[in-house]
Amino acid sequence: MKAQKYEELLPQLRSLLSGETDPIARMANVAAVLHEAMGFWWTGFYRVQGDQLVLGPFQGPVACFRIARGRGVCGTAWSRKETVVVPDVEEFPGHIACSSESRSEIVVPLLRQGEVIAVLDIDSRELANFDDVDKHYLEKIVELL
Ligand code: SME
Repeated sequence: MKAQKYEELLPQLRSLLSGETDPIARMANVAAVLHEAMGFWWTGFYRVQGDQLVLGPFQGPVACFRIARGRGVCGTAWSRKETVVVPDVEEFPGHIACSSESRSEIVVPLLRQGEVIAVLDIDSRELANFDDVDKHYLEKIVELL
């Protein structure tokens, strides 16, 4: 079910992104498509700016502006250079609660030449909303950027 939704989104996103080169504009519509189609609570990007992640295009409630490297789920995905899936945010040491409604989270790094340049962060109001299916497809989606 979830996999099928992602399968349908991939060609739509490829086609949408083929019409634009600006990285922020591309991130903005990827966030919008994912948020609408998948019904997430918060869907957006943080971009690496020096030694911090800075809030980028997103859909959902107001979020923290800046996150230091290694801090929270986002900063951890950045320093590990790999996707982090958090089934229960209360169990993740150092989780940054931008919204008290968030229960589970996935963060997928976007790499260029081996360096993280941004992360895709998605929050859910349900516990354990993200699994290997989300990881697989969200990594593919991030590769489109
Ligand atoms: N929870 C994230 C912070 C960003 S908000 O969820 C949008 C974290 O721990 O890095």
